[in-house]
Amino acid sequence: MYKTLKEVTQIAEELNMTIGAFNTHNLEMLPEMIRAAKEKGAPIIIQTSIDTAKYIGYDLMVAVVKEIANTEMVDVALHLDHARDFNEIKAAIDAGYSSVMYDGSHLPFKENIAKTKAVVEYAHAKGVSVEGELGTIGGTEEGISVAEDDKVYTRPEDAVEFVKQTDIDALAIAIGTNHGQFKSKTEVNIPLLKEIHAVVDVPLVIHGGTGVKEEDYPELINNGIRKFNVGTELLVNWTKVAKESFGETEVNKSLRHNVIPANLAVKEIVKHKIGLFMNVDSPLAMQK
Ligand code: 13P
Repeated sequence: MYKTLKEVTQIAEELNMTIGAFNTHNLEMLPEMIRAAKEKGAPIIIQTSIDTAKYIGYDLMVAVVKEIANTEMVDVALHLDHARDFNEIKAAIDAGYSSVMYDGSHLPFKENIAKTKAVVEYAHAKGVSVEGELGTIGGTEEGISVAEDDKVYTRPEDAVEFVKQTDIDALAIAIGTNHGQFKSKTEVNIPLLKEIHAVVDVPLVIHGGTGVKEEDYPELINNGIRKFNVGTELLVNWTKVAKESFGETEVNKSLRHNVIPANLAVKEIVKHKIGLFMNVDSPLAMQK
């Protein structure tokens, strides 16, 4: 079924698990991502950047996700990732995205609150969930981690104020992760996560999931991470496998031969991650 971010993170809270939020880059990989969730028996969040949403088309993206969610009978939320442009956020909401992220993390604190609040008002009136962000989630170039000095970690007292003032449904926090980190792994600041979790009562979100060590997942889940973003690992592996296939296949062979192996590589990663996200302590995991 087609769900909101709020609905799927509520399931995660009840079962002490986290929901995988996977970035799709094209329509080819999308069905296998959702089928991976179906095979694991877990909800999934499909997310797109604005650029991917525009490349595919907001309406088409919504139609495809709804269709697969309904026919495969899987709980799927469709989320707009890292949006700063209110017009694009409106376009996503009006087209039927079930959640959006307003990323005001680059703004002064008060401005971040004011702009996030405006998005929440628009979104909630249409039944759409909103994720906000506080602190700086690092970026990487070709897998090389950003300097520690450039990171601004989320301060627990700011998080309390931010959640109270904005009425967001989920909060992305900066605890040492970096976007696009696929050659190395980061050190997540678990003590800081525990401090934030102790004072904030909305679901917490990890960005830059590709660079997080899998052995850290249980601690993250047990301390309130209810949405876990993974993008780069899917992108890198789809591209690797597609390159190999395109390199080996005759030019007049159906494109299926090049694209299906890449889609299946993504499916296997999504299944593997969801298995870990279901957490060994979760009742849902124990049924499997
Ligand atoms: P990675 O691409 O580093 O996995 O991060 C995904 C993400 O956080 C999207 O917002």
